[in-house]
Amino acid sequence: MATTTSVDYGYLRDLVLGYSQNVLDPSRDYLFDTRLTKVLRHQGMTRLEELVQSLRRRKDPVLERAVAEAMTINETSFFRDSRPFELLRTGLLPKLIEERRQVRGLRFWSAACSTGQEAYSLGMLMRESFPMLSGWSIRIEATDLCAEVVERAQAGRYHRIEMNRGLPARFVVRYFDHVGEDWVVKEELRKMCAFRQGNLCGPRFPFQRASDRFDVIFLRNVMLYFSQETRRALLANIHRLLAPDGILFLGSTEQPADPSIWNSVLAGGTCHFRPRQPS
Ligand SMILES: C[S@@+](CC[C@H](N)C(=O)[O-])C[C@H]1O[C@@H](n2cnc3c(N)ncnc32)[C@H](O)[C@@H]1O
Repeated sequence: MATTTSVDYGYLRDLVLGYSQNVLDPSRDYLFDTRLTKVLRHQGMTRLEELVQSLRRRKDPVLERAVAEAMTINETSFFRDSRPFELLRTGLLPKLIEERRQVRGLRFWSAACSTGQEAYSLGMLMRESFPMLSGWSIRIEATDLCAEVVERAQAGRYHRIEMNRGLPARFVVRYFDHVGEDWVVKEELRKMCAFRQGNLCGPRFPFQRASDRFDVIFLRNVMLYFSQETRRALLANIHRLLAPDGILFLGSTEQPADPSIWNSVLAGGTCHFRPRQPS
């Protein structure tokens, strides 16, 4: 006699939470059915129940990671919410550049970079608006939890539809090569950006050393997936890695969980954050 089993979505939600700290709402359990089809196929399985049973039976970190990564939301675009980029161009970077005259270097971090558009946008902004810094060391580090999007970012290959979202036509011509249906980032831009996998909430934070300090950090549209407690811990780590005069951008609807260590500054129709120093 055939038995009917129902999927233990709670188990899957806990697994995702444990790995990426992404809090998934039970009202959206149906997303597991669509997002995990590739993982199922790869495992030679057809039903989610089988996957849950297999995960319960035997600890498999690779499979757990694949499940957590498949449940991430990777929505992004070039120059997304253009105001932070505009504010950097017109006010924040000219001042920072003046302050870094001696060291002749700037470090950016696109934390939760998804498929790379944010990092490449920063690169284009620097090349376009500050060409006089060609002799400086301009480094754009970019990390994301999900291996698949990091690979796409490294490939720097974008479909016409992705290019049409937020990218001025003259930037397309200047920074990309047309290859078939796609556009591929030119070497000049690619070499400014370093992409790698990194979990913002795992046992090993993507950057550790004091020398890893950043001048500008973009941590946008990712905190909304975390609990308040996780946000607090993450922002304490970010605070440690930001230069005392550094700048943090969050997503347009996001706020620091612990306002006592951040000064929020409203300018250019957007909000950015400065690390408050202990008095
Ligand atoms: C909505 S995208 C935001 C991309 C980009 N920052 C932007 O604003 O356009 C969120 C990204 O956060 C990543 N993410 C989720 N949880 C993460 C974690 N614990 N550590 C690192 N990245 C994570 C996802 O893989 C996804 O690519």
